[in-house]
Amino acid sequence: MAAKNKNLKNQDAEDSVDYLTLLVASGLALGEVADTDELLKMLADTAMTMGNCEGCTVYEADGDVLRFKLTLNRVLEARGVKASLKNYTLPIDLKTAAGFVATSKKPLNINDVYNLPAGSPFSFNPSIDVMNNYRSKSMLVIPMCDSKGTVLGVLQLINHLSGESFTGEVTPFPSRVEGYLKALSSQCGVVLRNIKMADEIKQSRIETVKKFVKASEYHDTDTGGHIERMSRYSVLLYRELGFDEASCEVMRLAAMLHDVGKISTPDAVLKKPGRLTPDEFEIMKLHTVKGYEVLRDADSPFLQMGATIAYTHHEKWDGSGYPRGLKGTDIPAEGRVVALADVFDALCSRRVYKDAWPIDKVFDEIRNCSGSHFDPQIVEIFFDNLDEVLEIKTQFPATQPTTETSKPKPVETAQGEEEPKEIKRAS
Ligand code: C2E
Ligand code: SIN
Ligand code: SIN
Ligand code: FE
Repeated sequence: MAAKNKNLKNQDAEDSVDYLTLLVASGLALGEVADTDELLKMLADTAMTMGNCEGCTVYEADGDVLRFKLTLNRVLEARGVKASLKNYTLPIDLKTAAGFVATSKKPLNINDVYNLPAGSPFSFNPSIDVMNNYRSKSMLVIPMCDSKGTVLGVLQLINHLSGESFTGEVTPFPSRVEGYLKALSSQCGVVLRNIKMADEIKQSRIETVKKFVKASEYHDTDTGGHIERMSRYSVLLYRELGFDEASCEVMRLAAMLHDVGKISTPDAVLKKPGRLTPDEFEIMKLHTVKGYEVLRDADSPFLQMGATIAYTHHEKWDGSGYPRGLKGTDIPAEGRVVALADVFDALCSRRVYKDAWPIDKVFDEIRNCSGSHFDPQIVEIFFDNLDEVLEIKTQFPATQPTTETSKPKPVETAQGEEEPKEIKRAS
């Protein structure tokens, strides 16, 4: 008797070491994950191993519902049944086990879902069992909370097995397993909160920049979409030029700032419906320097890149651009990329001073300006990735102008030229 007890204890201790190893290892691995889906998949895999059970379902809290994320079931998989619960949601209320756990924030350990204790507020819906000819029995439901106790999701395990490595009879989940899964679930909750926060910070940064750029109101007619398209074209070209994802993320925001200097351009020039005089164009050129001056002292990498872009997006490969007449690779890659993205979008768009060009003419112009205005390598990248370029163009169309000034008026051709103007029209 004593010997048997001792053995049992040793077995328990060994199990504990296994579980702890798994927990620590998964804790480390979870911390590396930066993507919600990947994280929840890892949670489900680890939970199945720890819980030694037939199935596992993960829900993510989304407002007042639990959104089904994924389900694993070894028995159904062996039979070739694919559980498809995509887009399935449960209200967070007391009527289901998962809803109950999300509400109470306490685990539920149920011996047999078909024999719930009398007075249980929730019931078990057998329809999925019936559909799959499956018998759910023991169930362990664990809330996934962040460090502040906010429920981010629910982990639901089905049918604990008495043997090792997914063997044996279906039995209730031992309370020790419940403890380990609580620990796993809270690790996951903290990581999930961090991922969500990083996403929120990223989104709010993008929103802030967009609002800032829109508020600067140099977009005389809000034909819209220009900032979105510019940002995306620039990221596409920049990535293909060989820059890594982190740099591309900086570019995503920085490209939006290319024209912030236009905030100090007088409306009489900026919103002139016709052709600029050489003097007016000299004033217009200053938007590059103004933008640079506003942004250059900032510490943030994206504002610094924004400064470089503001300063150099009107430089030309052959040295004929402004404000400094930089040539070739003396122009920072960021400026060369945005130059092409900017002109492509400008040519495709209506401005107060011009109509949109037909797309074939735009392509001709860009080809013709390879090596003069644009870096030939970037032009090549542009045409190699035309499908993606056009996808962006359709995805963010210009909306209909809402003000009367937004319709381009006939261009006052001071020098009697015809539209469309040539690229060197103002010099
Ligand atoms: P934007 O309208 O955003 O145009 C950006 C760049 O796209 C221009 O830089 C130019 O390189 C190219 N681009 C735009 N429209 C045309 C076009 O019809 N034909 C050709 N070949 N290229 C075009 P750029 O020339 O340095 O102009 C900078 C900014 O100055 C423009 O930004 C716009 O705000 C203003 N601007 C330039 N020309 C005129 C003009 O004739 N009238 C008015 N009202 N504004 C002008
Ligand atoms: C826009 O309003 O989004 C395009 C016009 C401009 O870039 O000034
Ligand atoms: C800057 O960051 O100083 C602008 C880029 C350049 O100087 O070429
Ligand atoms: Fe510009």
